[in-house]
Amino acid sequence: MNDKKKNGTAPAAPETKTEVSEEKNEDQVISNSRKKIDGTKGEALIIVNDLCKSFGDHKVLRGINTEIDKGEVVAIVGPSGCGKSTFLRSLNLLEVPDSGTIRFEGNDITEKNVDINKMREKMGMVFQQFNLFPNMTIKKNIMLAPTKLGKMTKEQASARADELLKRIGLSDKADAYPDGLSGGQKQRVAIVRALAMRPDVMLFDEPTSALDPEMVGEVLSLMKELADTGMTMVIVTHEMGFAREVADRVLFINEGVIAEENKPEEFFANPQNPRLKDFLSKVL
Ligand SMILES: Nc1ncnc2c1ncn2[C@@H]1O[C@H](COP(=O)(O)OP(=O)(O)OP(=O)(O)O)[C@@H](O)[C@H]1O
Ligand SMILES: [Mg+2]
Repeated sequence: MNDKKKNGTAPAAPETKTEVSEEKNEDQVISNSRKKIDGTKGEALIIVNDLCKSFGDHKVLRGINTEIDKGEVVAIVGPSGCGKSTFLRSLNLLEVPDSGTIRFEGNDITEKNVDINKMREKMGMVFQQFNLFPNMTIKKNIMLAPTKLGKMTKEQASARADELLKRIGLSDKADAYPDGLSGGQKQRVAIVRALAMRPDVMLFDEPTSALDPEMVGEVLSLMKELADTGMTMVIVTHEMGFAREVADRVLFINEGVIAEENKPEEFFANPQNPRLKDFLSKVL
């Protein structure tokens, strides 16, 4: 649907490439036999199996199982402290799971010999607090990863940054520093900074929670636009209206597991789990 570059990044030996693509096909076969929640069939991009994570004695994730399809938009909701961020951060190994597997594009990224940095290049991440480099201009922020990682020449990265800034209507801020931008502008820059690498999936951890209410809309519209291009997105959010409108599937995490998941209409109109009912009664 979109113009993702599948193997555009890896200068790997031909044999390796063949192996990877064969593995992808295998995944496709597995996932094609699987029915999605809306009854259609999907092609899995991420497959999470029995993921567990504790901090000391505190068991936060107690066996998360899910599959995220290419082009799917998944919203994750749940009470504070239930492990939403821990789960999201596990997907690119910012948190290292205690047990379980995470297959991304056919590779189990929890295996020791996997080059996680290579995998991370294909996973864009956006945080609540933007995390822009304050000492760099907006344009330099966007150019940094592609040039530093050798994905693009300076000229290519500059052209890409110009294109992305134009897309979000901030061309005039190219030479400004993050401090000179509003929260909404900063977060939109953080989103396109992640897009500069042409990732295959975008992970968002409460991207609008730190924003003044009047700036939430501009960030959500950019995310919706991104969803409309077919980007695979996993979004931890408190914005229930957005989840209902944009997500293909909503997950409710409670007590370390996915306690309920459904298409948004069903999820919000007809929750089954008493904890979810209680949660929704408080947030809707
Ligand atoms: N690095 C850490 N060390 C110790 N405990 C942690 C760590 N990270 C998270 N936790 C604990 O794990 C639990 C889950 O945290 P997590 O941040 O994943 O929750 P959350 O669902 O994202 O909550 P919120 O909605 O408030 O962001 C919390 O009890 C938290 O205190
Ligand atoms: Mg969190």
